[in-house]
Amino acid sequence: MKVLVVGNGAREHAITRKLAEEDIELTAAMSRLNPGIAALCKTVEIIDINNTENYDRFKGHDMAFIGPEAPLAEGVADKLWSLGVPVVGPTKPLAKLEWSKSYTREVLDEHEIEGNPGFKICRNIADVNKFLEKYPEVAVKPDVLTGGKGVKVSGDHLHSQHEVKDYAAERINADGLVVLEEKLIGEEFTLQAFTDGHRVEVMPLVRDFKRAYDDDKGPNTGSMGSYSCEDHGMSDLSKEVIAKGTKIMEETIKAMTETVGKFKGPIYGGFMNTPNDVYLIEYNCRMGDPEAINVLSLLETPLTEMGYGMTEGNLPKPAFMKKATVCVYLVPEGYPTNPVRDQPIEIGEPASEVYYASVYDDNGVIRTTSSRAVALLAKGDNVQKARKAVYKDVNKVKGRLHYRTDIAKHA
Ligand code: AMP
Ligand code: GLY
Repeated sequence: MKVLVVGNGAREHAITRKLAEEDIELTAAMSRLNPGIAALCKTVEIIDINNTENYDRFKGHDMAFIGPEAPLAEGVADKLWSLGVPVVGPTKPLAKLEWSKSYTREVLDEHEIEGNPGFKICRNIADVNKFLEKYPEVAVKPDVLTGGKGVKVSGDHLHSQHEVKDYAAERINADGLVVLEEKLIGEEFTLQAFTDGHRVEVMPLVRDFKRAYDDDKGPNTGSMGSYSCEDHGMSDLSKEVIAKGTKIMEETIKAMTETVGKFKGPIYGGFMNTPNDVYLIEYNCRMGDPEAINVLSLLETPLTEMGYGMTEGNLPKPAFMKKATVCVYLVPEGYPTNPVRDQPIEIGEPASEVYYASVYDDNGVIRTTSSRAVALLAKGDNVQKARKAVYKDVNKVKGRLHYRTDIAKHA
């Protein structure tokens, strides 16, 4: 059996590592060589993974896993299906749930799915002014993929109505429209699930830490670490809150199946639990990074079995180890604002699982880029045991690196 993995980050390293436990032949399609992934694959193709024209060579594979959102938004899943390769990851019209914020809001409204805050799709500044009369505090969302960096929120990034209007106008000029949403105040949480377009199987809950420095200080990053608990829940999230988020995802998948097609792959919902209700913030049509690392490290069901379940429409119930996980990211010093790049790092032999993110092999020397370098993950009978195990190993990775010391400290 030949399986293709598309992508070159730590999430894709986690997917590849899980697949490598099976007796299958692996191919990697990467834009930049990830040494961790390359070591597990029989064939490595360095291509622009976002260009569908580069995929003919993968005809004959029995399955493909697409890790990141950009190739999904470019229609790589559509292309691979057209070559006869079943794909874990949605086609372009279904991935629109991630690449167009306005589309997702409209889907929820049209199908009377709860979870939308007050919102308006604004095509001119008069629309913006009208919305601000009703909701003085807003989130301004570009209607295109921005790598997680485009959303700006009143109070956090935008400090006056002038700034809101300027940013909204900038986006309308660039994209023709912008989405304004009522600012929600509450606790954010995420749910990841596998789906075959009918059933939705929620994975163990994971919490991530987005700020660069301890105590949630500093700028936002892709994430500096994450944890999950041995009971697969989160102590501060009630069953009702999780059920509400799950229902929103299930109803969205059902609506998509009825109107667009079957969503086959992992889906990630970001939610806000406010004192009034649970709201959907956004969908990602892929697993989270690092959340994928936590859950795939616990997955007991073979990943190809989950893959066939999603692509063929008979999704099994996945089994996960009853263990806690803690994942800590090591990033270049100065990340994310002024990262030191091209610095050598030495990984040594930590007991924790090592996932390569954005590093490269320079004639046998592993070097940093401007993004996150390496993730370490440890499992334990509870979160504090997993935390102790992973922090025992962070100093074994040597180089000009920074990490947060408080991942899961208060879990
Ligand atoms: P997104 O890219 O949609 O996940 O948004 C990035 C971040 O912006 C989220 O993780 C939230 O912290 C924040 N955000 C998005 N939408 C809202 C909203 N309606 N109200 C408050 N914060 C929001
Ligand atoms: N950890 C957040 C994300 O993958 O989008």
